[in-house]
Amino acid sequence: MLHRMANSNLTVEQLNKTFAIPGIAKFEPGEGGLPRLYIASPLATAELYLHGGHVTRFQPTGHSPLLWVSGSSLFADGKAIRGGVPVIFPWFGGKAGDPSAPAHGLVRSRSWNFHSLKQLPSDEVQAVLTFNGSLAENPLWGSDCLVTYTITVGTKLRLALAVQNRGPGPMTCEQALHTYFTVGDVRLVSVTGLAGAAYIDKVDGNSRKLQDGAPIKITGETDRVYLDTPAACTVIDPKLGRRITVEKTGSLSTVVWNPWIEKAKKMADFGDEEWPSMICVETANAGENAVTVAPGATHTLAATIGAEKI
Ligand code: BG6
Repeated sequence: MLHRMANSNLTVEQLNKTFAIPGIAKFEPGEGGLPRLYIASPLATAELYLHGGHVTRFQPTGHSPLLWVSGSSLFADGKAIRGGVPVIFPWFGGKAGDPSAPAHGLVRSRSWNFHSLKQLPSDEVQAVLTFNGSLAENPLWGSDCLVTYTITVGTKLRLALAVQNRGPGPMTCEQALHTYFTVGDVRLVSVTGLAGAAYIDKVDGNSRKLQDGAPIKITGETDRVYLDTPAACTVIDPKLGRRITVEKTGSLSTVVWNPWIEKAKKMADFGDEEWPSMICVETANAGENAVTVAPGATHTLAATIGAEKI
């Protein structure tokens, strides 16, 4: 039986013939019939859609799933998946000076090319996807570029988004690994790692504020871009009895987001009652932390996500 085509022009069957690792990793039709890689190794299970290069599941063995996906998410060409790890590039949020541009860039709602799949000596499973940004196809790219996304699934989830500028001039871009985490109750979690940082408060007219030294608590709609924050962040979740840690490199911004009650109701692809069960702590370069990549050079944004019981 033939399933829908990936933009690499391969069917699920052809992808399996070329890339599958018997007993460990195989392609299958996912939600909405979109092709999905399913990984089940002794270390973890994970799911990865070619659509958006989107990881929707990561569950290290012995833990419950770390990533949150809305029960109301769309799974369709041209639409972003609500949850998991949307890849945001080449701009974050609205595009500066261009309100008609789609929010969060050009790659989260389109199919990526599948490049390679292997099992490492560590038993981690590593998938590589690529996306070609072409000015000829869309001037919004700003520059021709090649995006290479390496997803490594083991006891931790390692994500590395490498952007190579293939244009003749410098490329300035924003980016994010927009991780949605499952939490027991967002009102009970604490986020550490951002003490003393300056942030842009998007729910208070983009005003610039300073975080105090205490762990962050979520007490209402929260949408903050923390600047110059290269350190690891931790989501401490007393209800689920675990601590999720996000370590990062090549990232100077950290975004913390929860829509709370009213905004959740306004989003068609987000259940009205789902907001207490998620928090986004995003590994990003946004706003004044936008990255400039020289012609021919590559910038890599990377996050390593793991959990510990507490
Ligand atoms: C966050 C932004 O990263 O993503 C928020 O800071 C935004 O402003 C949220 O609301 C979700 O964005 P979207 O486009 O997926 O609804």
